[in-house]
Amino acid sequence: MTSGPRRAASPDWWRSAVLYQVYIRSFADGNGDGVGDVAGIRSRLGYLAELGVDALWITPWYPSPMADGGYDVADYRGIAPEFGTLAEAEQLIAEAHQHGLRVLLDLVPNHTSHDHAWFRAAVAADPGSPERARYWFRDGRGPDGSRPPNDWVSVFGGPAWTRTTDADGRPGQWYLHLFAPEQPDLRWDDPGVRAEFESILRFWFDRGVDGFRIDVAHGLAKDPRLPDLGDDVEELLATPDADDHPHWDRDGVHEIYRDWRRVADSYADTDEGRRVFVAEAWVRTNTSRLARYLRSDELHTAFNFDLLKCPWDADRVRAVVDRNLASLADVAAPATWVLSNHDVVRHVTRYGRALGDEDAFAGAVPTDLARGRRRSRAATLLMLALPGSAYVYQGEELGLPEVEDLPLEALQDPIWVRSGHKRRGRDGCRVPLPWSPDGPALGFGEGAPWLPQPAAWRDLAVSAQRDDPASMLTLYRSALARRRELPELHAEGLSWVDSAPGTLAWRRGPRFACVVNFGPDPVPLPCGGELLMGSGPLGTDGAAAAERLRLKAGGPLPGETAVWLRTEG
Ligand code: NOJ
Ligand code: CA
Repeated sequence: MTSGPRRAASPDWWRSAVLYQVYIRSFADGNGDGVGDVAGIRSRLGYLAELGVDALWITPWYPSPMADGGYDVADYRGIAPEFGTLAEAEQLIAEAHQHGLRVLLDLVPNHTSHDHAWFRAAVAADPGSPERARYWFRDGRGPDGSRPPNDWVSVFGGPAWTRTTDADGRPGQWYLHLFAPEQPDLRWDDPGVRAEFESILRFWFDRGVDGFRIDVAHGLAKDPRLPDLGDDVEELLATPDADDHPHWDRDGVHEIYRDWRRVADSYADTDEGRRVFVAEAWVRTNTSRLARYLRSDELHTAFNFDLLKCPWDADRVRAVVDRNLASLADVAAPATWVLSNHDVVRHVTRYGRALGDEDAFAGAVPTDLARGRRRSRAATLLMLALPGSAYVYQGEELGLPEVEDLPLEALQDPIWVRSGHKRRGRDGCRVPLPWSPDGPALGFGEGAPWLPQPAAWRDLAVSAQRDDPASMLTLYRSALARRRELPELHAEGLSWVDSAPGTLAWRRGPRFACVVNFGPDPVPLPCGGELLMGSGPLGTDGAAAAERLRLKAGGPLPGETAVWLRTEG
């Protein structure tokens, strides 16, 4: 496989890379059936290379009954027919590399699909059999076993246990699923499970894949006693803050990742070079729990969800940055920033709301989208000027808002049904991308898209934004190009600069500064210099600022605006 110019650059590329999350079902539809696919991604690699990202993370593309958007995997070594074929996937990996883009896949090790051969065999086998030992099968409580084995609840709502039916039609054992019933949890103390996943890693590494995002990385190890959680079960699930939690962030996960790191490192000398991991681990934020996943013999990176959950507030954001950089410094790991993904309300919408910690997950409340866009533009420059790597969720470069008025009959997220129709779920951030202002699916494909797109998205389409200097897309492309050429933004560490209340200012090296005004009113700049990037009009000529302009210390920085400056030192 050939190496593109950027890929060859450095074995440490991942420490300051920008990665683009492709939610495959909604990215681009190559065959007109309304569902995004591998052909669609292949046709848009040029777009991603031009955008200026370093790598893609593709959400699960494996054969699956799609009970949870593909996070219910029936075969870890294949491609779902609606997404394409293994041969196409191999072509995609090779073509991405030719474009200078690395490719990360999504590994789902906490659970399989109920359609996976292992689970089918387990259900068909007897209690106590080796087939059942790969999952968490237990007898129910009560004289007739009709109550679940413990009080755990599913993240999606309802009990975390489902009862099976024996061959003779009588109710049988129960099995554990921390997510939907179609997602039975694996037993990671089973040596066969461990061996299988190492083999799956090799299967894809052998095909040139550059790494994996690890789904529910904090969930694999369970307390085998399966103790009740007690009265605070909902609370405990939402905030895995308890010491010795029976299923979140247990110490047992780390030996698994040490094994995986050995597998990844064994590929370091191949043409594609270093293979890397990024953990999806929702763990305690105010401690070094996340850093434990990033010890030098474990995973390379882990998403930082603190920034994503943090309201638009200067002091809060500074605390998040400080806390994370300090705890990661202990293990010499880079921070990994993320503002949006396929599980949370899109940040244009979040930032258009009054402050609130739970806005990342909340339902519709009054939203000022113009404000949300201004803040999102500033947040982009903020995120891309922090040390470490960053993730861009497809569509955020277009400024897409959350779609909060999807017709109820269109909703597909299992959360909608499992919550008893109380929570609409995550479909609103998964609506197919608009590529052009016209056509049956705004350029997404030829057929009606699997979720309807708002008509107003024609103005947000890629081709509508491409040549507009004031568009969100232009901001992303310019900022990513600048970031690429500024060595300071690939170095470690930052130093804060004193600035007005409600603002943050920091330096990366002696001659680069980023200043962010979180408040609505203009504030004096703490330092001056040549303007490298501005997130909005700077009051000079009303135009979005990308041209060469000098800003003076003490001069005004408009509200909800960020700038990158080349300072005098
Ligand atoms: C996290 C994924 O991001 C989410 O989409 C999925 O529903 C759960 N893990 C379960 O796999
Ligand atoms: Ca398709």
